[in-house]
Amino acid sequence: METKKFTIDSFLKSKEEGRKISMLTAYDYTMAKLVDEAGIDCILVGDSLGMVMLGYENTLQVTMDDMIHHTKAVSRGVQNAFLIGDMPFLSYHTSTDEAVKNAGRFVQEAGAQAVKLERGSEVIDKIEAIIKAQIPVLGHLGLTPQSVHVMGGFKVQGRSQKQAAYLLEEAIRLQDAGVFALVLECVPEQLSKLISEKLSIPTIGIGAGRYCDGQVLVIQDLLGMYKNMSPKFVKKYAEMGDGIVEAVRSYKEDVQRSRFPEEKHGFIMEEQILAKLY
Ligand code: KIV
Repeated sequence: METKKFTIDSFLKSKEEGRKISMLTAYDYTMAKLVDEAGIDCILVGDSLGMVMLGYENTLQVTMDDMIHHTKAVSRGVQNAFLIGDMPFLSYHTSTDEAVKNAGRFVQEAGAQAVKLERGSEVIDKIEAIIKAQIPVLGHLGLTPQSVHVMGGFKVQGRSQKQAAYLLEEAIRLQDAGVFALVLECVPEQLSKLISEKLSIPTIGIGAGRYCDGQVLVIQDLLGMYKNMSPKFVKKYAEMGDGIVEAVRSYKEDVQRSRFPEEKHGFIMEEQILAKLY
């Protein structure tokens, strides 16, 4: 079956037609190619790469150069999925000029079609300026990992009436500012349902329950490769971490026991040429 290109228009159309949107992260060419081949709608080069690719404790040390490097690699592997680059900590906080320039790098240098920014009113002027520069923006509310120190850890957001009302207001604010879709991370599913019903743009949930208009997961979580954390909201579709360890163990054993390489893995030269070397 031929997969059609997922475009910016496909987001709203999917919501209007009741088709759920599938999104996954990817951070390198090979994985992006596989994810795209599987027909995923949308790929996010998330700043979660700081944790799953670079081994940091959180996303705060990720730089624009890290993001551009990985987004370039991913864009070379993508044919049909809509590609979004995640703006890292401090790349959109200091001024609107800086925010627009950095968002522009994702599109101009790295081949992304849109960018994602965390939070609402605190950065609304930056979001508006980026959209004015003709770069589509994906919003992100709820647990916003770049605020981990303010939030006191990776915690569910919006459980109290005050927090929930605030998140609903912020979601509407972001829609009014022009974001094309909104990620809701780690919020109770009743709240994400309400927000999804109130908004005309699609919501993309991660740890936000069953009623969002789409879902996103970190690819290493889905494949069972990242073992430092095991969030309740993740469904593992494979245990590739264990598979990789097993494969590497077998390789080591084969090398030690001279079972690899076999004759078929080698190259042969002509006997007469070899004879002259003796
Ligand atoms: O950085 C990331 O991967 C994200 C998604 C989990 C939404 O922000």
